Amino acid sequence: MRPISELADAIHQQWKERNYALEVFPEVAAEGLTRACLPEQLKPRDILDWLENVGENYLPRQADLSNSFGEPAVTLWRGERFFVDALFWTTGTTSIHQHGFLGAFQVLAGSSLHTEFDFETHESIGSFIRKGALNARAVRVLERGAVHPIHTGDKLIHSLFHLDVPSVTIVVRTPSAQVGTPQFNYHRPGIAISPPRGLQWLTKMTQGLILLQTMGDEDFGRRAAGVLARLDLESAVTLLFELFWKTRDGARFQEILRNGLAAHRPLASFLEEVFLCLRRDTSITTMRSKVLNPDHRFLLALLLNVDRRETVLELVRQRTRSPEPVLAICDMLRELSEGDSQGSLGVTFDETTLAVLEQLLRGRSPAEALHALEHTYGPEAVASSREDLLALCEALRTSTLFGRLLGPAPSYR
Ligand SMILES: [Fe+2]
Repeated sequence: MRPISELADAIHQQWKERNYALEVFPEVAAEGLTRACLPEQLKPRDILDWLENVGENYLPRQADLSNSFGEPAVTLWRGERFFVDALFWTTGTTSIHQHGFLGAFQVLAGSSLHTEFDFETHESIGSFIRKGALNARAVRVLERGAVHPIHTGDKLIHSLFHLDVPSVTIVVRTPSAQVGTPQFNYHRPGIAISPPRGLQWLTKMTQGLILLQTMGDEDFGRRAAGVLARLDLESAVTLLFELFWKTRDGARFQEILRNGLAAHRPLASFLEEVFLCLRRDTSITTMRSKVLNPDHRFLLALLLNVDRRETVLELVRQRTRSPEPVLAICDMLRELSEGDSQGSLGVTFDETTLAVLEQLLRGRSPAEALHALEHTYGPEAVASSREDLLALCEALRTSTLFGRLLGPAPSYR
């Protein structure tokens, strides 16, 4: 594919002149992408056409045959020192992750909400798990054509929430083996964990436990907790993450965690908070997979990633160009709710709920919100529904969608 081979040749030439120094590759790759103006030359359909016609003898060796990162991920060009991928995204969203490779990416089509994070390590659990504090440091929309360098380790911890279907990114990157930094995924409020490393006994024993659960074995919970108690902490946390993804019953999972890590109380409490956050985040990304309107996806992306009300309102103001971002959010929620016949939002946004939410989004306390509602509905009407309205405030402040934005500050901050 000519635009890609020209891009690769230009990057190769620039990097050669810098003696292939690894530390300059992100800069060289980002400059090459910026100069190539790929979005002007290449459409997502061109890549799909190429894929159909390239044939088995000319397809470069694929870096990600199982689409672990992309829907699909396609290697377009491969050299000895770096390669070029196209990552298509439809319903998927990336985890919060760092990289075991160097390079740069460009948004070829669509747009994405890009959030960068800082991670402060407080404690290492073995070599592949770190406990600490994860905080979003910057959030912005990457439009078509935007280029971003990829650094290894904690110099770039980020997530991408893709707003359009499809969103396509071109990634120019080194093979992971050249750099040798572990790839960590991050979860709120602050844990970094490497993907499972294929340890044979741990993997097969986990699969056995999951089978017990699928069979509905009554002894599953007791046996899982027993195994956790006998494992080293790094293996125990790895097992807990695997069980989390396979256990629908949240209360049962929590019981296994508490019993299995009874000897490690502070860590068990911290992990309970991690899995609560993860359940909430997973609920929002599941909602997102059913929503196609880019503005609605944008709102869900903000509710997933941003915990400052002022930042959310500013980003909505920029995107919608509305002088009243609170009202723009309420309009979007009304539209989302109307299209939510399956109830996947978990909240029905009727007029009363939206009126209360509007006040909370303006930064008012529940008491202030009720006072403001008196102007619209009259003091008697508000007084007669006072308990219901306060309960509604509480439900919104602890809801999956608005908990991060409106709820009490979590203990980890
Ligand atoms: Fe990334």
